[in-house]
Amino acid sequence: MPVSRDAKGQLLLGTVPLRQLVDDARWTTPFYAYDLDAIVAGARSLDRAFGRAPHLVCLAIKANTAGPILEALGRLGLGADVVSGAELSVATRAGIPPERIVYSGVAKLDAEIDKAIGLGNRGILALQLESLEEIARVEARAKASGRTARVSIRINPSLKRELLSTHDHIATGHDEAKFGVPRDDVREAVRRVGASPMLNLVGFNFHIGSQLTEVDGYRESAALLCQIAQDAIAGGCNSLEFLDTGGGFGIDYGSGCSVTPDDFVAVVVREFERTNLGHLTMVVEPGRAIVGAHGVLVARTVQTKVAGHCQWIIIDAGMNDLIRPALYQARHRIVPIDDHNGPTESWVVVGPVCESSDDFGAHELPSKAPSAVAILDAGAYGFTMASQYNGRALPDELFISNGAVVAVLRGRTSAEWAASRFA
Ligand code: LLP
Repeated sequence: MPVSRDAKGQLLLGTVPLRQLVDDARWTTPFYAYDLDAIVAGARSLDRAFGRAPHLVCLAIKANTAGPILEALGRLGLGADVVSGAELSVATRAGIPPERIVYSGVAKLDAEIDKAIGLGNRGILALQLESLEEIARVEARAKASGRTARVSIRINPSLKRELLSTHDHIATGHDEAKFGVPRDDVREAVRRVGASPMLNLVGFNFHIGSQLTEVDGYRESAALLCQIAQDAIAGGCNSLEFLDTGGGFGIDYGSGCSVTPDDFVAVVVREFERTNLGHLTMVVEPGRAIVGAHGVLVARTVQTKVAGHCQWIIIDAGMNDLIRPALYQARHRIVPIDDHNGPTESWVVVGPVCESSDDFGAHELPSKAPSAVAILDAGAYGFTMASQYNGRALPDELFISNGAVVAVLRGRTSAEWAASRFA
């Protein structure tokens, strides 16, 4: 549980009462707050799960791009999985060296490819190629920049949909997904990369989906990845350095989760050992499992509304601040930040945005509606997916360590948004 309560019943993030942050005049609700110490502790624990095996944990920074978080994780030795030139800039500015960065994405722009190839002495750890067509494009950019490109081939294991225990919108490892080279084309991809003097095949990778709550599909994909690596080695490829099994480690949003990040790591370690590939570096790209549980979105109640048999608590955070419920029918726990002992009842919590999907679901909350609430497990894909829809502000982000706010990132205000609509 990322939050707890003190003896007085006040909700704490780390050791900081959220009430203290809500009452602080320096920022206003809604805001995100993150527990940097817990993020670092979680990352350390994931790192330990690999034991002595050579490995690299690359945070999928699409889950959270906040500088204070990336800097802390970079200091620990983590790398980054990026999907755009801008994410690449943020990762390097946070101090993550190019040799710890992988770059995924089905349509990298020429300028983005050039930037990735051009960083440091030898470019980033790998550009992860997602199609046969992309191989020629990256090769052309490598020629133009006069530098070989370090590449990995992202395989699409073409799993049966049932093996991907997640929401359709975030399942990527099946036949009809746009991601990765279909398993039947992998041999041809290896041949084309191998035939190019401008491309250096340093890895294979996959990412089959997000919020996976079983390891079966992951295990099957890891076995396939290892098989492909063995075939490539047998075929004379001697440049492989790593195999990357992506992210997707599910977390508990309150209704339980039968797997832990360590279970996914154990699958990888076992497959590498079974196939004698222990000399290759194991790369994983979790996002949610590192940051998800350690961020909350804090909101004030604007008013309640009772009509017929319906009753709502209308808060000042909306789907523009946290879109996961609207987009994926995701459920996030919502709890009062103050002590509450009295009777409770079912309230539907909604935001102010003019959309019916601006709805965080029904929650058991005090009958006397709380003045402020925390939406839990919002550290991943919360702020990074926020928008200014309805002319709303982007929320501030507060970073907590050792019982204090140690950094603040200011969101964009509504006034800045209004000004930006004119030439
Ligand atoms: N690697 C690649 C290539 C990815 O596309 C993703 C996520 C990850 C790693 C990290 O996945 P994670 O460990 O965080 O599950 N917005 C959605 C999730 C979309 C995930 C997209 N790709 C959500 O809020 O649930």
